[in-house]
Amino acid sequence: MAGSAPVKVESLYIHVPFCAQKCAYCAFYSEPSGGDLINRYVAALIRELELVAPDLKPRTIFFGGGTPSLLNLRQWEQILRALERLNLLGAAEFTVECNPATVSPDKAKLLRDFGANRISMGVQSLDESLLDRLGRIHTREMVFQSFDILRRAGFDNLNLDLMFAIPGQTREIWRATLAEALALGSEHLSSYEVIYEDDTPLFAQLKAGEFDVDDDLACDMYEELVECAINAGFQQYEVANFAHHKTLNPQPSTLNLPNLACRHNVNYWRGGSFYGLGPSATSYVRGVRTKNWSNTQLYCEQLEKGRRAIESSEELPPLKRAGETAAFGLRMNAGWPFEEFQRTTSFDLRQEWSAEMNQLADRGWAWRDDRRFRLTPQGLRFADAAAELFLR
Ligand SMILES: C[S@@+](CC[C@H](N)C(=O)[O-])C[C@H]1O[C@@H](n2cnc3c(N)ncnc32)[C@H](O)[C@@H]1O
Ligand code: SF4
Repeated sequence: MAGSAPVKVESLYIHVPFCAQKCAYCAFYSEPSGGDLINRYVAALIRELELVAPDLKPRTIFFGGGTPSLLNLRQWEQILRALERLNLLGAAEFTVECNPATVSPDKAKLLRDFGANRISMGVQSLDESLLDRLGRIHTREMVFQSFDILRRAGFDNLNLDLMFAIPGQTREIWRATLAEALALGSEHLSSYEVIYEDDTPLFAQLKAGEFDVDDDLACDMYEELVECAINAGFQQYEVANFAHHKTLNPQPSTLNLPNLACRHNVNYWRGGSFYGLGPSATSYVRGVRTKNWSNTQLYCEQLEKGRRAIESSEELPPLKRAGETAAFGLRMNAGWPFEEFQRTTSFDLRQEWSAEMNQLADRGWAWRDDRRFRLTPQGLRFADAAAELFLR
């Protein structure tokens, strides 16, 4: 309609690029840093929030990292007050990633008071020697303590991140970690197979022949994960994500999502728009993808001059974007209902990707009927390879 204001973006990601120490496997942009740079980052982030606030009405907010829980109370209060002043609070889902070593009752209360209602805790393992091997700064005991602190602060939607196929992790260790993590009774579970990222110490150890990768063991661990999570009452809704189904917060029904699925991530996987603020963060708004500089100094310098710290900006050709959307969506158990895909991208999966869908179905990796296309449990195990076929 001529003259009508564009629909505001409903999803906000904020990257906090600091960690107490770098974990051996991690390639996310973050660095160990002192107070001055963190204060400068907080001021720059508030400036960036001011610049994009007129185009935002967040239904989901996600603070990720890095380690958002590393920020101290004063720094958190500055950010939360800025969100309040800019009228950005009140999201239906407001998640903060926490490292179990940096959770405190005061911080948990502050976050809760400003509307955070979901915490995602990086647990990775409950085996002390593996935590050590991974370079984690927390003990298993801190996981249990933090879980209690968050519950006492009133968080009733908690996620735990676990990793499997860690070098040195036996089947028995994985089973024990999984059982203990499930017994905690979180509402959500994310569990990732170790990825050997370039330029990480774990990758260097692999290249140096310090250990071998055992793909069969990794497959068994994944099967064990899915089985145990389902037995514990979770519903799998994405390759690595499981959630409980409670009657609050109804979600769109065509996807058959558990109610406590992470709505913020579901928006990514369904090709929705989002703003990503902070160093290294990506935004996707009205067909244009932008990426901020992965350099906190530079990020701060740009915002101190009053402009966003954008390194690159790309308007994706519609077919390329649709291919990416197809690929992302296939990671979800619901796959793609054909009509929904067409509504989202204006392309018809049945016309553009018919050969690829048949190829996957013939291999036993996918199901296809009149209404939708989705991966089988076996296909989900190899979702990255399956998804690649859809990229244009
Ligand atoms: C961005 S991290 C943030 C969590 C928080 N900083 C922490 O570690 O406590 C999100 C999750 O990604 C997973 N992850 C990070 N690097 C990974 C890798 N190389 N392979 C598999 N999973 C990884 C971990 O489970 C981690 O908790
Ligand atoms: S896994 Fe989390 S705590 Fe470890 S370096 Fe990466 S972002 Fe930081």
